[in-house]
Amino acid sequence: MSEKLVEAAIKARAGAHAPYSDFFVGCAVESEDGEIALGANMENGCYRLGVCAEQSALSAAQIAFGLAKVTRLVVVGGPNAATADEMGEPVMPCGGCRQAILEAASLSGRDIEVTCCDHTGKQRVTTTISALLPAAFTFEKG
Ligand code: THU
Repeated sequence: MSEKLVEAAIKARAGAHAPYSDFFVGCAVESEDGEIALGANMENGCYRLGVCAEQSALSAAQIAFGLAKVTRLVVVGGPNAATADEMGEPVMPCGGCRQAILEAASLSGRDIEVTCCDHTGKQRVTTTISALLPAAFTFEKG
């Protein structure tokens, strides 16, 4: 994963709308051509309508270059109040986001690299969607 992609995810996080949890998440998705699409979590007063950063970034990627071109993504997150000199824990994508990332991987037939970071981008875990979502549900129209 590139530093540029981590920096992009950190910038995207600043656009989070998370007044209910105060947990700000940003995501940057990269295409095989090096294009970058961004997203941030967007909460709602009707809590269950909130959107995660990964799904937000994947929607942007869908329009910008198409899900089949997604090669890797970075997610960064932590409490809004956390400062840049504080370390946190890497944010692991929730189950629903894993399924959404898998959808992009299924379209291209390749695995997607997923880097999970704290709010500073310094604490990192790099893995793949196949490792994050083994034995996954897939649907093929018959
Ligand atoms: N959140 C994400 O944006 N991505 C994840 O993978 C986990 C959780 C958001 C949802 C909610 O706005 C906040 O983090 C707290 O759960």
